[in-house]
Amino acid sequence: KHPIPKAKGIDNTRNLIKEGFTFISDRRKSLDSDIFETRLLGKKAICMGGAEAVELFYNKDLFIRKNAVPSAISKSLLGSGVHGMDGPSHRHRKQMFLSMMTPERLEEMKDIALEELEKKVQEWETKPRVVVFEELKEVLVRSGCRWAGVPLSEEDAAKRTEEMGLMVDSFGSVKRLKEGRKARENQEKWLSQIIKDIRKEKINPPEYSAAYIIAHHRDMKGKKLEPSAAAVELNNAVRPLVATAYFLVFGFTALEEHPGVKEKLIEDKDNYSKMFAQEVRRFYPFAPAMAAKVKKTFSWEGYTFKKNTLTVLDFYGTNRHPDSWTNPENFFPERFKEWEGSPFSFVPQGGGNHYAGHRCAGEWLTVMVMRSFFKYFNDNITYFVPEQDLSWSLSRVPAIPESGFVIQEVTRIKDSP
Ligand code: HEM
Repeated sequence: KHPIPKAKGIDNTRNLIKEGFTFISDRRKSLDSDIFETRLLGKKAICMGGAEAVELFYNKDLFIRKNAVPSAISKSLLGSGVHGMDGPSHRHRKQMFLSMMTPERLEEMKDIALEELEKKVQEWETKPRVVVFEELKEVLVRSGCRWAGVPLSEEDAAKRTEEMGLMVDSFGSVKRLKEGRKARENQEKWLSQIIKDIRKEKINPPEYSAAYIIAHHRDMKGKKLEPSAAAVELNNAVRPLVATAYFLVFGFTALEEHPGVKEKLIEDKDNYSKMFAQEVRRFYPFAPAMAAKVKKTFSWEGYTFKKNTLTVLDFYGTNRHPDSWTNPENFFPERFKEWEGSPFSFVPQGGGNHYAGHRCAGEWLTVMVMRSFFKYFNDNITYFVPEQDLSWSLSRVPAIPESGFVIQEVTRIKDSP
């Protein structure tokens, strides 16, 4: 037994907020340890990263999620639903989400999203200048609502896009968390009413849609969810799609910054578009970390994890851990040709098993939308990328290229398939 290495400083909350994505990995490097102890929000916390730490973190006998994430983040970004559940009731709720993700439903999302994108692109053709990040958020909210069976009126589209955008963007600053919280309150009110209307058959989405599944879902005791609880989960089936806009913009940025990549994407040999989407998710920052609590005292590699200790897993640093990735700081899609497919080393949307644990339910949906949008931008339209600031700051959580990716002179060269 030996003590967990300690990071400098009494409480590191301010440094965490200031440094953002690199807070954990910088300390792991300087302490030469994949695990260290510190204090966050006045409490003792263990921070860790790397594939072995991911495997540990996703062991449900050792960690729980209830009340692990700071409440400000629950009240804006995550909500009080599946994210904070444990044990059999989590598994039951997760099964509900995964039942929405059949191959047919993924294909349907692709068709819907490309249709919504094409509608938007027709508007772009008439505009002198387009900020792709802002426009994609609306495309994704419209697509997500259609896919999930959530009615979205024309008058509401901009407002609901803004709300979901604020929630997804909220988790790195006090000011944005406040805005996200307000947006969540509005969303939950809106979606509760939709749940009630579905139950009264005033609205009739198809039986396979997220809205229908959630409205009629029964918990382990056989009870339907309260409308407010169902609203949280319905939001969880649409809102996170907006996060894809961040990865998409990073991907378009990669096409500008890495010579040769564009040509390979057009050719799309050996599933290059998939490798490209994977490398965008590995290389660019979005989800920095996740929190859990120690379920019962245990020891691991000689370190003691005491019951209830806050434990933070470094997603960003794990995706760039030199034990798992050769030249992790290089953007190199072809690395995925040889990749063995570990559920622990590549964790842009969480790790472990989708069914048994908390790994993102929307991962397949995300990759599919990314692939099809990258291909659309390459094969179906031409555009000019003017001089702009495409840099991003790793201390801004979530990160996004400064300009939001501005394009001009958009022209459609063929209809989408
Ligand atoms: C969970 C990231 C897209 C639905 C998560 C988690 C992360 C994440 C980091 C938490 C993993 C954990 O707690 O261990 C992302 C990113 C996305 C994305 C980066 C896109 C860029 C989506 C989409 C959907 C979705 C499109 C659904 C339409 C969910 C759900 C959970 C989740 C329901 C909760 C799973 C659970 O607690 O068991 N996601 N996500 N996500 N995501 Fe995503």
